[in-house]
Amino acid sequence: MRSSFEILLLPGDGIGPEVVGAAREVVDVAAEHFGIEVRYEERKIGGVAIRDEGEPVSDETLEAARASDSVLLGAVGDPAFDGGAVRPEAGLLKLRKHLGAFANLRPVAAIPALLSASTLKEEVVKGVDILIVRELTGGAYFGEKEEGEERASDLSVYTREEIERVTRVAFEAARRRKRRVTSVDKANVMATSRLWRRVVVEVAEEYPEVELDHVLVDAAAMFLIRDPKRFDVLLTENLFGDILSDEAAMLPGSMGMLPSASLGRPNSPGIYEPVHGSAPDIAGQGKANPYAAILSAAMMFRHSLGRPDVAEAIEQGVSVSLEAHYLTADLGGSKTTEEVTRAVSRWVAAGEGVA
Ligand code: NAD
Ligand code: IPM
Ligand code: MN
Repeated sequence: MRSSFEILLLPGDGIGPEVVGAAREVVDVAAEHFGIEVRYEERKIGGVAIRDEGEPVSDETLEAARASDSVLLGAVGDPAFDGGAVRPEAGLLKLRKHLGAFANLRPVAAIPALLSASTLKEEVVKGVDILIVRELTGGAYFGEKEEGEERASDLSVYTREEIERVTRVAFEAARRRKRRVTSVDKANVMATSRLWRRVVVEVAEEYPEVELDHVLVDAAAMFLIRDPKRFDVLLTENLFGDILSDEAAMLPGSMGMLPSASLGRPNSPGIYEPVHGSAPDIAGQGKANPYAAILSAAMMFRHSLGRPDVAEAIEQGVSVSLEAHYLTADLGGSKTTEEVTRAVSRWVAAGEGVA
């Protein structure tokens, strides 16, 4: 079991620094509790990097990411750069591509203490446990772009290899869960989706114990709020996965609850970041919900650092804090980012299950 790690912190913009600061605090407490050494390097990404370094992510930062054990990221995006030649979001896309982080895992689970925070009925949400597996380095995000005054285009390309590798990630995950994959596409209209469906069906043959079905993305958006319990692993392409995961955030009740892991080849560092953005509307006010960032740090211990014991302790600290009503405004509470972070830290330091 490893006990020494190098983590690259990329706080980014808006509430990014607030939630990464919270995650770091919890990681420090967990490290102390488990006798682990964590070394950090902190660099810039997004709008702050454009402002201070002239580009949304520098080559040095990309190299520091590659040399790290994993990357803990906040969010990028700043309205000050709207309409500019280069956008903060480009830094994040470049980092994902650079690390080959093609599989984005976004777990979405109903949280008993939060059933009333969801805008959906309790009976719809209770018991929901979905893993969204979003392809992250292909499709319209990365195809050739044309941007003129009269015409614009975003080319969406998928290759067999890109579909195969992310499909394997989804099926491997399903094997350890309820053994059901729902592949979401738009095969009634899009050529990329028809290739997607063919390749998914082929890969599925290697996993006879996993049940596969296909749902068109428009219907999937509807089923996610009508009957979310029908999903176990939801596998989809980059753009659909982006949209469906924000929708799915309303199952636990807030964007501030969804963590993510972006993974590539076995030995390349993963990127751990909340699903939410830089939330400029609440930045700098101590209102940001840090749970998604803290849970992303837990995913980091599980997926990149080989320490599921630390991951579980952090997740347990989060559960206990939620049950003790440490809730930020987005969850209907009045606690600050700092108060929530301190509560989680306290329970992680005290050891599992102490309320
Ligand atoms: P957003 O996720 O930043 O915010 C949407 C809404 O959710 C806002 O009302 C915000 O206050 C709320 N919210 C989000 N996270 C929260 C948290 N942790 N605690 C409490 N409330 C929270 O999405 P947006 O407003 O559409 O985008 C803002 C910027 O963020 C854009 O520039 C966008 O490109 C960027 N963005 C970045 C990422 C990322 O870095 N991974 C993800 C999504 C959006
Ligand atoms: C996300 C974000 C990013 C995406 C943006 C900021 C590029 O919305 O991580 O979900 O679209 O992938
Ligand atoms: Mn998104």
